[in-house]
Amino acid sequence: MSILIINIKELLQVRNQDIIKVSGQDMKSLPSIKNAYLLIEDDTIVDFGKMTEIGNFSSNNVIDAKGKFVLPAWCDSHTHIVFAENREQEFVDRLNGFSYEEIANRGGGILNSAKMLGKMTESELYDKSLVRLMQVMKSGTGAIEIKSGYGLSLESELKMLRVIKRIKETLPITVKATFLGAHAVPYLYRENKDAYLSLIIDQMLPKISEAHLADYIDVFCEKGYFSLEDSERIIKAGQAHGLKAKIHVNQFNAFGGVALGVKYKALSVDHLEQLNDDDIDVLKNSDTIPVALPTCSFFLGIPYTPARKLIDSGLPIALASDFNPGSSPSGNMNFVLSSACIKMKMSPEEAINAATINGAYAMGISKTHGTITKGKKANILITDPISNINILPYSFGQSYIDTVIINGNIIKKPQEST
Ligand code: NIG
Ligand code: FE
Repeated sequence: MSILIINIKELLQVRNQDIIKVSGQDMKSLPSIKNAYLLIEDDTIVDFGKMTEIGNFSSNNVIDAKGKFVLPAWCDSHTHIVFAENREQEFVDRLNGFSYEEIANRGGGILNSAKMLGKMTESELYDKSLVRLMQVMKSGTGAIEIKSGYGLSLESELKMLRVIKRIKETLPITVKATFLGAHAVPYLYRENKDAYLSLIIDQMLPKISEAHLADYIDVFCEKGYFSLEDSERIIKAGQAHGLKAKIHVNQFNAFGGVALGVKYKALSVDHLEQLNDDDIDVLKNSDTIPVALPTCSFFLGIPYTPARKLIDSGLPIALASDFNPGSSPSGNMNFVLSSACIKMKMSPEEAINAATINGAYAMGISKTHGTITKGKKANILITDPISNINILPYSFGQSYIDTVIINGNIIKKPQEST
């Protein structure tokens, strides 16, 4: 099937194949073609250019994008979108003055999610997750990373990862799976964390690797969860099974997690709400990308990742939703962009780079996703007619996305609600 989009007001994020991420000052620019066309064959971008130079193409699916912008679909590189139930009572508890930490210590938090997921059947978990996936696809996400980590037992971690695999096989969205067995220490192992680490390393990892259920390894490197030493063991064990690291670091405390990630050539270090100068120095000259999750900061009322400091130091940054029931119960990347601009002072161009090509880099798919490039996946967004692209982050909470095409499939058509 082919789709021909004509009269595009401006085609954004047009880049050469060799650009796999953009850093520092370069994040301010978004190369584009005005008055353009774009041709899609099956799941691939095959041609684009100026309308004045359009070839003699025929397609029975022609979209007139007069007054509209076309850009790559969002690449959300950090989510926990497979989970059992919402945790809205913990939200109310926080409104009543309890902290995220206090709620976790009272049996809420990740362990609460694990309890609920343990009771849910695999097909129910799939059905619940599917609804959320459809929502984020309609809101413009074309590629997504999904973590396990609400299982915390061999059986339940495998259940989560199988659900992620099924999502990958059944939906058009591109999916990367991350094993996050080290998300929290389950009750059973409270007095014996080492035994839980051994369970992850000796039992879970070999099974997961044998069944090809994960692309990456993650660990919640944080006080009260997993120490630097624990995290190092997990990362090394994951690497021994061919899984590159993408890790949760510096959410509440900065104590060397970034350096650990860089030492082990992590693909990304995520959260970074607490960041010191040493962390920034260690990220320079590394291939590890910092990932900011501004809707987590918004929801928990914790500091925002110092995006300006990172970018002004010449570093790249990716933006992701962290969609999960405890700290960011939304996978809406449009709001992620708005909060990045409003609260972290990123420019709209920087935010779009961070949510497209850099998001793709943070999940290891920037050779095929994240830019308008011939041969890349046809993952694109068509906006409503708007005067300029700043409208997207400016209009927080509203969607100016008219059409979403994911791997060549038209997911959201004009007039459909978001
Ligand atoms: O990325 N920080 C650790 N994990 C999640 C929150 C998990 C939860 O509260 O369920 C996060 O914010
Ligand atoms: Fe997370």
